[in-house]
Amino acid sequence: MEKITVSVARPYDVIVERGAAVRAGELISEVKKPCRVLLVSDDNVYPIYGGTVTESLSRAGFTVSSFVFEHGEASKNPSVLFSILEAAAKESITRSDLFVALGGGVVGDITGLSAALYLRGVDYVGIPTSLLSMVDSSVGGKTAVDLPAGKNLVGAFHQPIRVICDPDTLETLPEYYLTDGAAEVVKYGMIADSDILSMIVSSGVESNIEELILRSVKIKRDIVERDEFDRGDRKLLNFGHTVGHAVEIAADFSVSHGRGVAYGMTAITAAAEKLGLAKDCSEILKKALEAAGLDSSLPPYSGSELIDTMLRDKKREGDTITLVIPSVPGECRLQAFPVSQLGELLFGEVRP
Ligand code: GLY
Repeated sequence: MEKITVSVARPYDVIVERGAAVRAGELISEVKKPCRVLLVSDDNVYPIYGGTVTESLSRAGFTVSSFVFEHGEASKNPSVLFSILEAAAKESITRSDLFVALGGGVVGDITGLSAALYLRGVDYVGIPTSLLSMVDSSVGGKTAVDLPAGKNLVGAFHQPIRVICDPDTLETLPEYYLTDGAAEVVKYGMIADSDILSMIVSSGVESNIEELILRSVKIKRDIVERDEFDRGDRKLLNFGHTVGHAVEIAADFSVSHGRGVAYGMTAITAAAEKLGLAKDCSEILKKALEAAGLDSSLPPYSGSELIDTMLRDKKREGDTITLVIPSVPGECRLQAFPVSQLGELLFGEVRP
């Protein structure tokens, strides 16, 4: 078992252990006395792991009720959020009780926000079951739901009291989603640890999965500790995300998040090399993306199709936008660019 402590205002541990889901009750009882639990999950994950986690919590003395919603990003909305809050009230969850998020990024984000809002804040534990949520969204306390105007527009910082990552749960994750999460692992390699890239290039993602999760969580931990509230270094985690997010929107979300990020990392890296800001990055990025099963080509959209969306990105600050620019493999930096130069910088297109 590996325990990675995230030393924010209220420190907590991320446990990475094969079979940890079966021991969820025991692992949670180390940080929370037996209480009522609202177990939140979706209709993909709950039928596979809901029973195991409920039994484990009950064995450890917790009283469990569950709230299960339809899987998918479309459920990450205020209406489902309020249904979770109503369920908590109906089950008489009090301030000393607990929410548990069992599932991928959507479940984690909406449960975390429910926990932030219910009674002005109750504890929650994350049990992420997708690669993307293990290495990214379950760590760091960003919680949110979407609005019709955009993703994650309503949210709060609310850190969990524990995160339980069980790599065995990835065995039931469809290949498509494993590949999607792998884009975030490649991202960690590019921003902070070039050994991650070498490992993926030499033997892919699945055979190194535990080591890749550990390395990724440690990088995320380090960045979150330096900048819990996303005012500086935490923006490094957005490498590839500005273009990637624009691709997701241009494709009306038929391109998944990880695949969008893969396009975004490729575009920004190519631009940085062309401008002489980056060295030796494109080749290793391409190899790592391909070894992870991701498309390593430039985005399948023109600059003009993407720029307007990028200008509406919440990462924009007035007339500038801060982009994450690679320097060498394993090292990136933040650089602000005038928004008027974005088209030329990224796609060689001068705006009229
Ligand atoms: N997923 C980016 C962050 O946690 O800041």
